[in-house]
Amino acid sequence: MKFTQYAAPLLAAASVVSAFPAAKRNVTASEKKYIILDNDWSSAGFIPFLIALDAGYEVLGLASDTANTWQHQVALHGLATLEMGNLSSCIPVVPGSTYPLLNTPNKFQAWEAVHGDLAWQGAFAPYNATAEALGSDPTSGDDPNRVVKGAFLEGFPSEALIQGLGDSQSAAAFMVEMVHRYPGQVSIYSGGALTNVALAVRMDEKFASLAKNLVVMGGYIDVNLLQVTGSVNQNDINSDINLMIDPEAAKIAFTADFPDIIFAGNVANQVISTQEFLDEVYEVKNPYSELMYNDYGTIFPFWDETAAAILVDPTIITNATTFYVDVDIAYGSPSYGNIHAYQSALMPPGLRNVTYVNSIDSAKLKTMIKRSVQYPRNCSTMGMTL
Ligand SMILES: *[C@@H]1O[C@H](CO)[C@@H](O)[C@H](O)[C@H]1NC(C)=O
Ligand SMILES: *[C@@H]1O[C@H](CO)[C@@H](O)[C@H](O)[C@H]1NC(C)=O
Ligand SMILES: *[C@@H]1O[C@H](CO)[C@@H](O)[C@H](O)[C@H]1NC(C)=O
Ligand SMILES: *[C@@H]1O[C@H](CO)[C@@H](O)[C@H](O)[C@H]1NC(C)=O
Ligand SMILES: *[C@@H]1O[C@H](CO)[C@@H](O)[C@H](O)[C@H]1NC(C)=O
Ligand SMILES: *[C@@H]1O[C@H](CO)[C@@H](O)[C@H](O)[C@H]1NC(C)=O
Repeated sequence: MKFTQYAAPLLAAASVVSAFPAAKRNVTASEKKYIILDNDWSSAGFIPFLIALDAGYEVLGLASDTANTWQHQVALHGLATLEMGNLSSCIPVVPGSTYPLLNTPNKFQAWEAVHGDLAWQGAFAPYNATAEALGSDPTSGDDPNRVVKGAFLEGFPSEALIQGLGDSQSAAAFMVEMVHRYPGQVSIYSGGALTNVALAVRMDEKFASLAKNLVVMGGYIDVNLLQVTGSVNQNDINSDINLMIDPEAAKIAFTADFPDIIFAGNVANQVISTQEFLDEVYEVKNPYSELMYNDYGTIFPFWDETAAAILVDPTIITNATTFYVDVDIAYGSPSYGNIHAYQSALMPPGLRNVTYVNSIDSAKLKTMIKRSVQYPRNCSTMGMTL
């Protein structure tokens, strides 16, 4: 039943797709590379779009989803991190769906009561007024559109930009329009929940096949032992929150006919941030390198950066496997929202094959991150090969 609540806004959005202005671009250049990055943007989460820009991609827009925190706060982080690099005049933030297809904080917390807690619960962590007062991004609670200004280490976006976001929930409509405008040329990057991608798939049966590919951060496989033989942080690193926030959306996205679906799952844990590397990046000073130096930290792997690097430069891949993939959407299952792999001879119907990256060239990833952050593109050089 919950799904029907999306029907009205989607139809409305579909009828106003022309609201997205025609780009001032050379649309005849068939070699042009376009990307839409859908993510749960955060204060130090800007590196994926800098990597895409550095590789000469035209970033058509950032879409916001609910995963680490609620969508509206995410959209504002997207705006703020574009604005700090003078990129907000050429890259729009397109708000996505605030709610997953079916999941809610209550439903998620009830699942945890049966199957155990996740170390990182993202937007569905219990509401904590103290944490929000201290500057944590909002979780659960009564109003998913509330804004915690104290969480904006990158600075709060300007009022004009916030006005521009409007009230529309239009990321899925935006994605659909863009793949029709540039068929076969638009990569869809998903670093958070798959809600908007799934909505686009269901809105338009041509959407997935018209995109160039779908590259996903998430989709861990066979990590149960790693979840229990280390610290709570190690459990965090091996829990699939991006998919678990919206398991049904992940299933829709991963069974759609994108020409290629590429997973940065287990491999996303390969390269972990270190102080030495942060020091090295900060040898060149600009607002992005400063924020990375001060706020990226040295606890987490370069998850979203790994997915972005794989998307823009597949030569970074040193080992990959192909298999057919499904998502566990049985609410009563302890692996609800996790992927399951099959070989073709034994799989159930309705699945498709995906490219699953097992390892990457770590040095190359660091080089790409460093160059993207130290010498960020600006609007005049977006889409150019420098
Ligand atoms: C468009 O792209 C083509 C092919 O790259 C190029 O020849 C042409 O000059 C471009 N036109 C503009 C207006 O940039
Ligand atoms: C953004 O533009 C302002 C004003 O032109 C300039 O001072 C600032 O250095 C620019 N920031 C970046 C990151 O390019
Ligand atoms: C709420 O957040 C505060 C500040 O981070 C923390 O000390 C406290 O343990 C949290 N409360 C719960 C119930 O998690
Ligand atoms: C590639 O990775 C798979 C899975 O980890 C492993 O079984 C295989 O041996 C690797 N292949 C090479 C050539 O390293
Ligand atoms: C994946 O599936 C497509 C479409 O059925 C097929 O063309 C392709 O060869 C498959 N790739 C692999 C590596 O099995
Ligand atoms: C954009 O970047 C290019 C290359 O670094 C530089 O030459 C140019 O001055 C920059 N333009 C603006 C408006 O900052």
